[in-house]
Parts: sequence; C-alpha cells; structure tokens
Amino acid sequence: MSNQTLRPVAIAGTGSYLPEKVLTNADLQRMVETSDEWITERTGIKERRIAAKHEATSDLAIAAGREALANAGVEAADLDLIIVATVTPDMAFPATACFVQKALGAPKATCFDVSAACSGFLYGMELARQFIATGSAERALVIGADKLSAIIDWTDRNTCVLFGDGAGAAVLQPAGEGSGEILSAYSGSNGNLDEILNVPGGGSRNPLTPETIGGKSNTMKMAGREVYRHAVQTMMSATKEAIARAGLTPDDIECFIPHQANLRIIETIADKLHIPMERFFVNLQAYGNTSAAAVAIALDEAQRSGRIKRGDHILMVVFGGGLTWAS
Ligand code: ACO
Repeated sequence: MSNQTLRPVAIAGTGSYLPEKVLTNADLQRMVETSDEWITERTGIKERRIAAKHEATSDLAIAAGREALANAGVEAADLDLIIVATVTPDMAFPATACFVQKALGAPKATCFDVSAACSGFLYGMELARQFIATGSAERALVIGADKLSAIIDWTDRNTCVLFGDGAGAAVLQPAGEGSGEILSAYSGSNGNLDEILNVPGGGSRNPLTPETIGGKSNTMKMAGREVYRHAVQTMMSATKEAIARAGLTPDDIECFIPHQANLRIIETIADKLHIPMERFFVNLQAYGNTSAAAVAIALDEAQRSGRIKRGDHILMVVFGGGLTWAS
C-alpha cells in the first residue's frame, strides 16, 4: 500500500488503573537501609502503588482497558486488535492480551503482547497505528501494564525504591474530522546494552531452579548510573526526532509526557533542550516507575485533569530495558 492511502489515526480515549495499596518512602525505610530524603532527592518519588497478591498484570490491564473504552465510547465487541505491552505477563503464554480479550468480550480482536520494557506502550501504539493506517484494523486497544513488584528484589535498595505497579490504556481508531491525529513516531533499540537492565533468570537461558531463585536472578538487575546516562541521551534524541518528523519545533509542543522513571532525568532533558519544566507532565512522585504503564497513565491523567486540551501538540517519549526507546 502506498503512503497516499495510509489513513491518519487518532487516540479516541484513554484510561488507567492503579492498585489500592500505597507504599511510601517511610514504609521502604523500614524494609531496606534508605531514607525518604535519599529517594526524594535522587528520584523525586514519594510513594508507589503495589498490586494485591490476587491481582495479576492482566487484572490491572483489564481495568485500564475498560476505562479507555468507556472514555472513547467504543464497545469491546468492536475491537479488531488488543496489544498489551508488559515485561510481567501473567504467564509465559497465553499472551496477557488474550486474558484481556476474554474479560472484556472482544471476540473479533487479534491479541498479542509486546516486550520492550518501559518503551512498550509506544511500541504498541505504533504497531496499532500501522494496523489502522493500512486498513487492517478499525479499532485497537493498546495497554501498558506491569506488576513490577513481582520481579523486584525487595532487599535491594538500588532498585526496590524506584518501581511500582499500574496500567494505562488508549483506544486508537481512524482520525475523524477535528479528532486530532498521531503526527509522527520514532523508535530504536540497542541490544548491545542488554546487561545494564535485565531480569537474567526465569527464561530459557536460565530457567527457574532452586539455585536461580536462591541467587535471585529472577529479579531485576540494573546498573543505575549507566541506565541514567543512556536514558538522557536516547530520550533527548527521540524527542527531537519525533518533533522533526512531524514538521514541528519544540516550541510547538504544549505538553511533554516523558517516561516516569526519575525526576532528575526529566529535569536534565528539559534543561538541555531549553524547554521549561512547566511543559512536562510529571506524576512519578505518586507512582514511581511503572514501566510500560508509566506514559500511558500519565497521558490519561494529563487528559482527565485538563492539562492537555483539544488542539494541543503532545510529545510522548520513553526508554527502557533492551535498551529500547520511542517517541
Ligand atoms: N537509599 C540510600 N542509598 C542508596 C540507595 C537507596 N535506595 N540506592 C543506592 N544507594 C547508595 C549507593 O549504594 C551508593 O552508595 P556508595 O556511594 O556508598 O556506593 C550511593 O547511594 C550513590 O549511588 P548511585 O548509584 O551513584 O546514585 P545515583 O545518584 O546514580 O542514583 C539512581 C541512583 C536513582 C538509581 C539513578 O542512577 C537512576 O535513576 N538511574 C536510572 C534508573 C532507571 O531509570 N531505571 C529504570 C529504567 S526503565 C526500565 O526499563 C525498567
């Protein structure tokens, strides 16, 4: 299909879900050697949400998906595509998206998961956009959902203070008159940097055994400073690239919605790109880094709170394990 026949695609509605349980910095102080002061100063995070024992990633995804469908005025039965971005699927298979399909009642939908760590939601959005642009699908539900608490080593202060659980979702469909549209997209990966952020155990390389579990290789490992450095670099270049591809300049963007990993990363990017912090939407103080869910939750909150208005240009930018990045 040539470019001329590609249809513009719009976000028709958004939704999000955060588990009830709040874990504050004060709570973490009782679990590992850390302090509210250290966490606040180094990350900006004050508290995060933790899923209940009975809640799996699909439960978070289903709640966010329901809200996005209601917000968009779209019936689940009309969905052609459900994509769940996650690194904490309910099971190795079936895909978490299939559990979402079952719960929502979306028999027409093709369902699969995307694995791109914190970048997954935008990878999923771009896939859905391509399906719709080419006419392969009319309506898609894209969900970023992660229960990172399931893969955190709760004795490792280097990682456990950073993350939380949650889900965010968006319904995509062909752009109608005045509905706005996705103007551009950009993404990239660098598999050479696999080791600075990963969960080394539990897959086919190092299957779960009493030894791997004892050595906690089924939990997240991170070289924090390295990740930080690459996060700033990749999110800056991805920000510039998506804006350029849309034929715009940073001044045209009313709201920047970056991956919610660390306030210092966002402030550094704002500073280096000479963009005032007021134009960045930040909610990481309340939820920590929820991986694939983070920008999706932020988009939903920005929309519901009136932070973004009809006609605004929005730039979403993410980075994560892989490494991966997208905007
Ligand atoms: N409380 C108190 N002290 C701590 C804690 C803690 N929670 N964690 C680490 N420290 C200590 C370290 O042990 C170190 O002590 P030392 O100097 O005696 O060795 C000291 O604090 C400084 O540690 P650094 O790692 O140098 O601290 P830094 O300023 O780099 O901040 C941080 C660490 C917050 C992890 C930062 O590097 C960062 O945000 N990196 C990016 C992480 C990230 O975004 N990851 C998610 C990626 S997205 C995805 O795909 C999941």
